[in-house]
Amino acid sequence: MNKITIAIDGFSSTGKSTLAKQLAKQLKYVYVDTGAMYRAVTLYAMEMGYIGNGNFDIEGLINDLDKIQLKFVFNPDLGFAEMYLNDKNVEREIRTLDVSNYVSQVAEIKEVRSRLVSLQQDMGKNKGVVMDGRDIGTVVFPEAELKVFMTASPEKRAVRRYKELLDRGENVKYEDILENVQKRDYIDSHRENSPLKKAEDAIEFDNSDLGLVQQFERIYEHALRVI
Ligand code: C5P
Repeated sequence: MNKITIAIDGFSSTGKSTLAKQLAKQLKYVYVDTGAMYRAVTLYAMEMGYIGNGNFDIEGLINDLDKIQLKFVFNPDLGFAEMYLNDKNVEREIRTLDVSNYVSQVAEIKEVRSRLVSLQQDMGKNKGVVMDGRDIGTVVFPEAELKVFMTASPEKRAVRRYKELLDRGENVKYEDILENVQKRDYIDSHRENSPLKKAEDAIEFDNSDLGLVQQFERIYEHALRVI
């Protein structure tokens, strides 16, 4: 079988990572969650005080980019890799609503994007990778053999996210999650650098009314056609 690159892009909380993990497991590919990388950079900026409490010190963050080391470490108990920021597992911290509230502004910064895009290109250079994000099929791997663009209604996505955060013990309100999802969609699709948009050759996939198994089966069929 040919090893290919699978790019999964789309709006926030459309289930990209669930699908990407299923595909990676089935095909024995590496899974890369690029959102986790933008989230880890955001967490760093918050911990350093560059962001938060009314601050948004872009220069401070840009000057520190060389000090930010990002790494994915496979956790065999979970069956997927977790995000490490400067050798610390930050998988939990990067998923909070606090980080979600700033991440899209950090992801607009040109210097942050070019650094993360080149890391991502390096991670996928040998193919056999499923990568999810916002610009994978358009910028990171425009030559990817299979591109999927995922959508679902904002309300369905907010409900999914809300349940996820409640399960993790976060004290959140549904209205705040819906607002965050809509705000991130807007910033992600309207930014100057690599805005979120469907690649011309991507398969558009609305999973508002599909179960996880159905969703996986449909996309896996597409993957088998190109492998
Ligand atoms: O995928 P996730 O929702 O965790 O991504 C968090 C944020 O990171 C997105 O809302 C977007 O602003 C940014 N992002 C991006 N490009 C990517 C992946 C994520 O700009 N490839």
